[in-house]
Amino acid sequence: MEYIRISGTELEVSRIALGTWAMGGWMWGGTDEEQAINTIHAAMEKGVNLIDTAPVYGFGLSEEIVGKALARKKCRDRVCISTKTGLDWKDGKVFRNCSPDFIKRNFADSLKNLQTDYVDILFVHWPDPLEPFEETARVLNQFLKEGQIRAVGVSNYSPEQIQAFQRGGPVHVVQPPYNLFEREIEADLMPFSKENHLALMSYGALCRGLLSGKVTTEREYQGDDLRKTDPKFKQPRLSQYLAAVKLLDQFAWQRFDRRVLHLAVRWVLDHGADIALWGGRSPDQMDPLPEIFGWRLDQTAMHAIDQILQETIREPVGPEFMAPPSRKH
Ligand SMILES: NC(=O)c1ccc[n+]([C@@H]2O[C@H](COP(=O)([O-])OP(=O)(O)OC[C@H]3O[C@@H](n4cnc5c(N)ncnc54)[C@H](OP(=O)(O)O)[C@@H]3O)[C@@H](O)[C@H]2O)c1
Repeated sequence: MEYIRISGTELEVSRIALGTWAMGGWMWGGTDEEQAINTIHAAMEKGVNLIDTAPVYGFGLSEEIVGKALARKKCRDRVCISTKTGLDWKDGKVFRNCSPDFIKRNFADSLKNLQTDYVDILFVHWPDPLEPFEETARVLNQFLKEGQIRAVGVSNYSPEQIQAFQRGGPVHVVQPPYNLFEREIEADLMPFSKENHLALMSYGALCRGLLSGKVTTEREYQGDDLRKTDPKFKQPRLSQYLAAVKLLDQFAWQRFDRRVLHLAVRWVLDHGADIALWGGRSPDQMDPLPEIFGWRLDQTAMHAIDQILQETIREPVGPEFMAPPSRKH
């Protein structure tokens, strides 16, 4: 495992963070709690010390699972937790809400769910256009001063939105989407975070499983699984993305003795992200973790990868379909 220090904080975290959205079940077709707890333990055994969750993931369930997993091993002090705020829900429908009252209630619930009295990083999950960003920053800065959080993060914010937020308090970490198929941040947020010494903790390293090498055109998704509406998982695009996965897998095997999953996560780490979020919900999904380390992608490999992507994906599409509505939507 590789570790980094988050600038402006005392946090030293693994460069792979475990994502627990699917463990909450919501938008992933359900969950198995014991299996989820075992997944968290499996990741920790392989050196992961940063676990990412959110109140909205299963409407509290993902946070509760994280809390139980750490309580069972009595290891809260050895693990960093990142959770989020700013997404509210009613009758199962999710919307943005960064009103100070909601954030305070939402964060108090997170502490209870997680069985802790502090979290290491608190992210604003999505920018709320109906609340001044500066005000939201003041609320999080107050948590920071009181020792209830150790770092402030913003997720899905543009550089301009971050600058507005910074007028009310500090930002230490940003959390945008980033993977081989979703590279929008290279144009703006990535250089901005480097210039401003913000840790870049990107999500979706496997592009919701597409880059695991296990997705086929035959695979069916259950219940409310978001991949039923994900435009990358619909034809004719799915075949283009799977063609890329096949060529990337061959390339990884021939050049590095690795598979596409290792290549996809290594690429995120070597292509500008400080921390790569990897989502999982069964312990065996953590098996490939050790083989992400001990090798790197050089410039020649990066060019070859770009060429594969250009040749295969004729109709690229971004992750915009995941954006939740604002309150007046
Ligand atoms: N801030 C935000 O707005 C935001 C948005 C999205 C995600 N996130 C965070 O980032 C985390 C990661 O993102 P993500 O969960 O969307 O995507 P991801 O890491 O790209 O993909 C996760 C999915 O890939 C599959 N997978 C994982 N390991 C595998 C393995 N070894 N073999 C085969 N398949 C494997 C699993 O799907 P199956 O179990 O279905 O096979 C898993 O649920 C989330 O859990 C969450 O913490 C944040």
